[in-house]
Amino acid sequence: MGVEVAVEGLSKSFGRQAIWRDVTLTLPAGEVSVLLGPSGTGKSVFLKCLIGLLRPERGSVVIDGVDLCACAERDMYEIRKLFGVLFQDGALFGSMSIFDNVAFPLREHTRKSETEIRQIVMSKMDMVGMLGAEHKLPGEISGGMRKRAGLARALVLDPQIILCDEPDSGLDPVRTAYLSQLLIDLNAQIDATILIVTHNINVARTVPDNLGMLFRKELVMFGPREVLLTSDEPVVAQFLNGRRIGPIGMSEEKDSATMAAELAHQAAGHGDGSGHEDVRGIVPQLEPTPGLPARQAVRRRRARVLQILDTLPESARHGIMAELSLEDYERYQDWRRRTTGMAMPQPMPQPMARRPLPPQPGPAQQRPPQPGPVHPNQTTPLPPARRPRPWRRDDQGGRG
Ligand SMILES: Nc1ncnc2c1ncn2[C@@H]1O[C@H](COP(=O)(O)OP(=O)(O)O)[C@@H](O)[C@H]1O
Ligand SMILES: [Mg+2]
Repeated sequence: MGVEVAVEGLSKSFGRQAIWRDVTLTLPAGEVSVLLGPSGTGKSVFLKCLIGLLRPERGSVVIDGVDLCACAERDMYEIRKLFGVLFQDGALFGSMSIFDNVAFPLREHTRKSETEIRQIVMSKMDMVGMLGAEHKLPGEISGGMRKRAGLARALVLDPQIILCDEPDSGLDPVRTAYLSQLLIDLNAQIDATILIVTHNINVARTVPDNLGMLFRKELVMFGPREVLLTSDEPVVAQFLNGRRIGPIGMSEEKDSATMAAELAHQAAGHGDGSGHEDVRGIVPQLEPTPGLPARQAVRRRRARVLQILDTLPESARHGIMAELSLEDYERYQDWRRRTTGMAMPQPMPQPMARRPLPPQPGPAQQRPPQPGPVHPNQTTPLPPARRPRPWRRDDQGGRG
């Protein structure tokens, strides 16, 4: 299983230019996370800090008990072996065949024989659907294939943490969809911790278990995907819907006078060409291709998220409950009864999306009465099991 990456209070600047400050988040072991952010917000810088290529001024990045921001070179070297990185452009050597590109880390960092190397390279090429292209040069294959070759190379040292820097950049929507599926399939097969930074909304909506956003030099939020996807934060709404009107400007954030003028224009009927559709909301997460094992992360995440359910905003709670199977819902109710020592308060948010089929004649009918249906738009207050807390960006339950 992949390893957890715990980032705490991380700040990075170049000279007097602050890139982001006080970033705190945990990438739960073996789960897929996406970090969104407008261009230039420091997503690539963040990835480089995670692998120790850049040194943040403050904060810690703890992996396997080692703080990358304060460790010796030797420890850093060992920790780096846990990583596989897919760079934005694939970063392949143009004069080397795909085979040699993928084999490169093995020849550099291991003493494996050429026979072993061939076996590993071919298995990774197979994993990313590139068998047959090993003799081509990077310039002879499409952008999507170059990404996949970059991914194969990121995989040869069997990483436990995979970082992908805008894996969708330069790809058309169909190839982006294939790559998204590939990342989910990969997670199902090797259970590695995956972090994808991107500004692609479709990737953000369909791929991750956890979702966050960098904006205005800060982490706006990070946590279970349902929180950001249902968020009312203006910056999140603007970004997810790709609107011009909102706090995000062409180069930087907008000042309040510009915002007010835009809102006045909008009220007067001048739109920003983006239409009125709001794509916020929870859509089904991609599942592994049939025939592959189920993602173990899904089960672990469910247990983790249900434990912090009371700390999440209502819309996210409802979304999470809606994704539960009836069995999980009942298990959760049991768990709540045991941990709170109380009978289950009613009404509770119900599992909505995956309601079971009508009961079939036979033993299934002997199940206890099921909770009644709740209209998806109906909001039912969730009685707190503990003292309720507003959801904060560091409330991910990954730690402590
Ligand atoms: N090595 C560096 N030295 C100085 N400034 C840098 C360096 N790397 C990145 N930056 C600056 O950091 C900011 C964020 O860059 P980047 O992480 O590439 O953004 P993103 O990946 O979100 O588009 C940019 O303003 C960029 O110019
Ligand atoms: Mg970048």
